[in-house]
Amino acid sequence: MEPFKYHVYMCTQQKPEGIPGCAAHGSEAVLNVLRAEVVKAGLDDEVQVTTCGSLGLCERGPNMVVYPEGVWYSKVQAADVPEIVREHFKGGRPVARLMNTDVAAVRTEIQENRRKARAAMAAQKKG
Ligand code: FES
Repeated sequence: MEPFKYHVYMCTQQKPEGIPGCAAHGSEAVLNVLRAEVVKAGLDDEVQVTTCGSLGLCERGPNMVVYPEGVWYSKVQAADVPEIVREHFKGGRPVARLMNTDVAAVRTEIQENRRKARAAMAAQKKG
């Protein structure tokens, strides 16, 4: 079931001080521009924008994933948003320069970050 043409998940995860994450990279500002540009383009009923927690590429935030294609964008800046809305959401052409295209590398990076996070939590529990 796909109630919308596109569904965008924008990571707004906050991390503790000194740990890289999308919020520290300015994801809230990008999110605000994204919501405004979607409305401005008349795509409010076709593009659903949802915030989410960490996608696992924390050093390269702000990150977002667009379905149904499963396009993963990294280092998205507010200035990139009009192009994403125009090219991808209106034109159906994902913005290649912001896309992660090496699926194996993305998987490895996410798994490594998950391992690090779990190790940090385990160390915290030990005190
Ligand atoms: S904090 Fe956004 S991907 Fe991890």
